[in-house]
Amino acid sequence: MPELPPDTASQLHRGHIFHLTGRPTVEEAAEALVVHPDGGLLVDGAGVIRWCGPWDQRPAEAADAQLIDHGGSFILPGFVDTHIHFPQVNSIDAYGGGQLLEWLDNCIFPAEARFADEGFARGAAREFCHRLVSAGTTTSLVFGSAFPVAQDALFGEYRRRGLRGVIGRGIQTVGPDTAKPLMTSEEDAIRLTQEEIDRWHPAVEEAGKALVYAAIVPRFSLSVTTRTLAALGELYDAYRDRGVYFTSHLNENNRPGDGEIDAVKSLYEVDSYLDTYDGLFLPGSKRGGKSLLGRRSVMAHCVHCTDDELGRLAAAETAVAHCPTSQLFLGSGTMPWRRTIASGVTVAAGTDFAAGDSWFIPEVLNAAFKVHISEQGEAGAALHPAQLLHLGTVAGARALDLEDRIGNFDPGREADFVVIDPSCYEPLANSLRWGLAAEEKVTRRHGRLFTLLMATHESALAQTWVRGRRLDA
Ligand code: GUN
Ligand code: ZN
Repeated sequence: MPELPPDTASQLHRGHIFHLTGRPTVEEAAEALVVHPDGGLLVDGAGVIRWCGPWDQRPAEAADAQLIDHGGSFILPGFVDTHIHFPQVNSIDAYGGGQLLEWLDNCIFPAEARFADEGFARGAAREFCHRLVSAGTTTSLVFGSAFPVAQDALFGEYRRRGLRGVIGRGIQTVGPDTAKPLMTSEEDAIRLTQEEIDRWHPAVEEAGKALVYAAIVPRFSLSVTTRTLAALGELYDAYRDRGVYFTSHLNENNRPGDGEIDAVKSLYEVDSYLDTYDGLFLPGSKRGGKSLLGRRSVMAHCVHCTDDELGRLAAAETAVAHCPTSQLFLGSGTMPWRRTIASGVTVAAGTDFAAGDSWFIPEVLNAAFKVHISEQGEAGAALHPAQLLHLGTVAGARALDLEDRIGNFDPGREADFVVIDPSCYEPLANSLRWGLAAEEKVTRRHGRLFTLLMATHESALAQTWVRGRRLDA
């Protein structure tokens, strides 16, 4: 199915606007925060932002645009979810009787096996996209299904709806009994991945304007072998220049002895988990193949990275998908905020649904605020509301190497945005109207953003727009 063409009429949106201008680091987010309590957003017929500013300073060309007045609603850049699992669409709050590895074995592998059925997978693809649009997620990096029928259904559904995203089939060549239906031979793992890229990744001349891209996605190092990693390194090398992505999980569960990290290190006999994705997967961390890291690579979790690993991620321009709701649910611990940011690595938000129990990026930001203020002693950090917005918008765009195109409302960016209507969620409306945030003179601007991000609810998410087109939920 071809991608939807953009709408042709230009639009002028009016509402209370928040965004982060320029290309700020998360430390610069507060200075980059732009607030227009009565603001305008002018979007041209190709879905590109022409102007964003105070309503009473709108340019003359705005007079020709279709006016869309959002009243007392807020307009924010669309949320970017840098880590979510398609075949876990119906696995919210699955009780695995333990942490990551038990949860995978008891709940997730069996649930994902159901996606072999084409009819089931088609329904699930529709449900998945419906949930994303309802949650205001305009761009997502998706861990896909092992099954090509399910993957075709999902890619097709993204294109049909005009959603933006990066999707890759989950690759598994080894695993426990419950994972057997998801596993393929070494040869098929590469063949199916290559076929998916050839089928769905845009041609070179389309790459800069497409909405949907393909990724190489081994589930994690415990789901593949040195042979798979070597072959994926070759495959990635052949497709890197075409803008194909890479993503996987890294340093999520550190239960001593039998947790994920110890299992990876003892199985591969490597010094660090990251080595397995960096081509250094032979015993003693010797090189066995090409690296899978790069500026279009995203590693999920990174809760227990060493400083050396963080430095290497930053040097490779590989980003971290930070998933605090998931880390709470699976008891994985807390990604150390100050130490991770200090390394220079880009940290972007991910729901990790269904280990994360929410589809809604503001709920991930809410969890991020709580877990980082709870870090012990000097490690603790009270994230500024602009930093929360950064996590959910600009950082996601940067993590996916799409910062030239999305993430804020600077002219030239594509118009991905959400409309939050507080009147749809009374506690939010009342807090904004009567709470201290509305009164306090010094922090008023920021305080309203904090209240908006922390106290909002998916029911207040009124509209989701991608490249100037309103998406149907
Ligand atoms: N590690 C390997 N597979 C998964 C998964 O599906 N979810 C999470 N959170 N971690 C994983
Ligand atoms: Zn995950």
